[in-house]
Formats: sequence, structure tokens, C-alpha cells
Amino acid sequence: MSAFPNAHEALLRNRERIQGRVALIGLSDTGLLSELPDGGLAMTDHAGVFARAPSLQGWRMAFGYDDEALQPGCADTLVVFLPKARAELAFRLALAGRLAANGARLILVGEKREGIAGAVRQLKAVAPDAAKVDSARHCQVWQASQFATGGEFDVGAWMTWHSVAAAGVEVEIAGLPGIFSDGELDAGTLMLLQTLADQPLPRGHALDFACGSGVIGCWIQAWQRAAGQEPSPIDAADVQSQAVICARSSYQRNQALGDVVPSDGLSGVSGGIYRKYRAIVTNPPFHAGVRTDTSMTEQFLRQAAAHLQPSGELRLVANSFLPYEALIRKTIGPVTRLAGDKRFTVYCAKRT
Ligand SMILES: C[S@@+](CC[C@H](N)C(=O)[O-])C[C@H]1O[C@@H](n2cnc3c(N)ncnc32)[C@H](O)[C@@H]1O
Repeated sequence: MSAFPNAHEALLRNRERIQGRVALIGLSDTGLLSELPDGGLAMTDHAGVFARAPSLQGWRMAFGYDDEALQPGCADTLVVFLPKARAELAFRLALAGRLAANGARLILVGEKREGIAGAVRQLKAVAPDAAKVDSARHCQVWQASQFATGGEFDVGAWMTWHSVAAAGVEVEIAGLPGIFSDGELDAGTLMLLQTLADQPLPRGHALDFACGSGVIGCWIQAWQRAAGQEPSPIDAADVQSQAVICARSSYQRNQALGDVVPSDGLSGVSGGIYRKYRAIVTNPPFHAGVRTDTSMTEQFLRQAAAHLQPSGELRLVANSFLPYEALIRKTIGPVTRLAGDKRFTVYCAKRT
């Protein structure tokens, strides 16, 4: 069975619909590029897909919504892949409008189980003549020839701000469409922050793995300041472009210290080579698309010890049903449960 995403296969069945210069928005597998030899522009919001993209003649890659390769009016066919989060579709459609040349056509491709049928109302809001042109590989393909083009596309204008508080310390956090827990503090993250107030991390340079909007790094440093301490830098890493943009903005607004880097797993984190962290704190991913998938976090746990100083600490919150405790003990060291209920458990382990 092919591992090629269904949406990419569905698009390839319709390749004759791609005319002129193409822009792919939301690419999830670069294997598609070699199947479209005329080249074009491909945007992915996934740091791993971007980093692994082969350099193919005629193709330009863009990482996320603020990449300078995204030039206005550069494409005659805009292919938008349905994102996992519905809110992100409006973001992708707005970007498509910005990249479209006069008279461009728009193609939307997505899987039925990811909600393509429900997304059509959003599509028709910007492209009233959109029509379904194919249904295959569990996907639908929609095409429109009239849609709003040439508008402004300013990521800053899409950014929202909200306050979150834990243990009496409040921070201002940025949000963008598609980001984890946009506009609110996740209940697992809240439990993690409460343990950090009761039992702070060892002082020293730390890493927030899978940082999302940057809430953990901002909150820890705000808590340290409120406790009259000098804040310790906390680097932050996430695979998603919107997370990197939001975490950088949140860090700036809260005057938090630390580098924010795009990274698939720990691959983009240089701390392992140049700097071993005193602590790693994380609310790690457990989804791939609509499925529960613990493989990314298991891989992170196998690599985390190499990024920790001896006796450095891992502090992790996860859904209580996820089977991480034995792996943490094996890869890092003895494990303590600092908090827990039916939904979440916070683990603490010291590197042996
Ligand atoms: C459960 S959320 C936690 C976000 C944030 N730390 C919080 O507490 O609100 C997990 C994060 O993992 C990120 N993620 C998913 N896969 C990843 C990977 N392979 N490498 C790094 N980060 C990843 C997601 O983009 C998401 O922001």
C-alpha cells in the first residue's frame, strides 16, 4: 500500500487542471513535487517536511505563512490542501488569494474523514462558483475560477492575543489559526504549570519541547520574576510554523529569554551538541492528523537524555492513558508522578 497522502493522489488524478504557474499550500509530503515536473511554489507549515524537501529544479519551498518566497500574484493555479484545523482553512484561502495572479483558478483537496464536505461552505464564501470535480481516494476535489484575489495578507493581522493565568501569574499569549489550544490554556498545560509553581525546575538553561504558542516558557519566566528571581532562559521548539511565529511573538511581548526554533522532534535543537539543558519541559504531541499517535513523543523520549545534563530534569504532562512512564524510566531515569487525575498526569524524571 502506498504511503503517499490520499489528498496528493487525488490531486494527481486531476493534474490536467493545474495550468500555468502552480502554488501548493499546505504540502504534507514532498514526494508530490517530483510528480509535477513543471515546478512552482510549495508551502508547508511542517518544519520536517520543509527540512527534508529535496532541491528539485523549478520548485521553490516556503516554510509557513510568513516566508518571503510567498510573493503576491505569483501563481495561476492555487492548490489548497485541507488543513486539520478548520480555522486554518480561512488562513490558507486568504494566502491563496494573495498569491493568485489575475484569472487564477483555485483547487481545494481534502479527505472526507477530515471534513472536506463541511469545509465547502468556507470555500464558497470566497469562491461562490466552486464545484466538486472529483471524488476519489477518500477525498474530494473542488475547483473555482472566480475568487477574491490580490488582497493583503499580513500574518500579524491574523494574530490574536489572550491572557492565561496559573498559580496567580498571568502572561499574554499569541494565537494564529491552526495553533494548539488557541485562545485558552490547555487543561494539561495548566496542571503542568501548577507543578512548576509547587516544585520549580532546577535553575539554568531549559528547553520547552513542542512549545506551541510559547506559553510554558513565558509563564515560567514570569513566575521566576514574580518570585524575585532572575529568569533563566528557556529555548522553545515546535514543528509547526504558526507555533514558531506565535512563540516568538509571545516571548517578545513577555520579554522572555531563549531561542525559538522550528524543529521536527529534537532535530532542530542544537542544545544536544553545543548546550546540554538543565531541564526539558513539555506537553508533547499525541496526534497525527485525526489519529492518536504516540510515536513522535516516544522518539523524543529516546533522544531527550542526550540533550540533558547529568541529573537534569524532564518534566512532562500527558494524557493519563498514554503509556509513557516505563519509557521515561528506561530512557531518562527514576520517575515521580507530581500530579494526576483521570485526564492528565505530570511526570518528573532526573537523568541518571
Ligand atoms: C499538546 S501541544 C502543546 C503546545 C504547548 N506546549 C502548550 O502546552 O500549549 C503539542 C505541540 O507539539 C507540536 N508538535 C507536533 N509534532 C511535533 C514534532 N514532530 N516535533 C516538534 N513539535 C511537534 C505541535 O505543533 C503542538 O504545538
